[in-house]
Amino acid sequence: MSAAPACSETDLEHEFDATIAREQRIEPRDWMPEGYRATLIRQIAQHAHSEIIGMQPEGNWLTRAPSLRRKAILMAKVQDEAGHGLYLYSAAETLGADRAELTRRLIAGTQKYSSIFNYPTLTYADVGVIGWLVDGAAICNQVPLCRSSFGPYARAMIRICKEESFHQRQGYELLMTMMRGTDEQRAMVQESVDRWWWPSLMMFGPPDADSPNTARSMAWRVKRNTNDELRQRFVDMTVPQAQALGVTLPDPDLAWNAEREAYDFGVPDWAEFGAVLKGNGPCNVERITNRRTAHEEGAWVREAAVAFAARERKEPTQ
Ligand SMILES: [Fe+2]
Ligand SMILES: [Fe+2]
Repeated sequence: MSAAPACSETDLEHEFDATIAREQRIEPRDWMPEGYRATLIRQIAQHAHSEIIGMQPEGNWLTRAPSLRRKAILMAKVQDEAGHGLYLYSAAETLGADRAELTRRLIAGTQKYSSIFNYPTLTYADVGVIGWLVDGAAICNQVPLCRSSFGPYARAMIRICKEESFHQRQGYELLMTMMRGTDEQRAMVQESVDRWWWPSLMMFGPPDADSPNTARSMAWRVKRNTNDELRQRFVDMTVPQAQALGVTLPDPDLAWNAEREAYDFGVPDWAEFGAVLKGNGPCNVERITNRRTAHEEGAWVREAAVAFAARERKEPTQ
């Protein structure tokens, strides 16, 4: 006769569930169900890839910024996104993921990044609109993740959200400046808003009815709000900002609903969303090709870093 093991899988699972119920954090050393680990690795990797690929659309304008001030702001913002990506890859590593493998999957197309970054940046107004709408949507998505149940992810989000709010403000300030300028500048802002509005709404993911993993992620408190809740929050936050700017959001169904105390709005083109996710957006191929080239051209840096680390181990400097 042997006694039951002190720490059976069931005990561990109870402890895990109790930690989540107490609103405490799960840390990398803690036991966790494999599904929880896999869900988090997928979500964090996808988030990290989005930050890194997200440098491309705006990076496109770095050499053509209209003034030194705008260039410095844009440079700081794009560098922040690189930092976010690196933070997040580190958070994924605490779950046992291998960073090189995550990059391999991104380049092979087996791991996704946000569909929004597959649209082109055609004018400098796009830099402002991306800051206002895309970083604005990212903030709506990410603020609740500061309370994600996984400690390293939640803590990374706190810092990232502070930087995202600078991104949103610099975009809005750029647009305000353009709206106070010439008719041509105002038209440029409106044309950009027309192109980015619907893809920004798609950033929250498919409607709840078509998002089968949401319930599981909510129960694990990996996710704190559904896609539709966050999309509504974003619309309600953005409409008054659009009014203050003096731009029109391209949705004839957008109207205040006094009963719901929220804005009603139209349905995004989910067929377009599906096509972009499948790799058929305007810039999917370009984005991945650039990432692959950067990775290949950076091989010598990785080799040098490994050789340097090996030498340091042999001859410690101190
Ligand atoms: Fe970011
Ligand atoms: Fe950002």
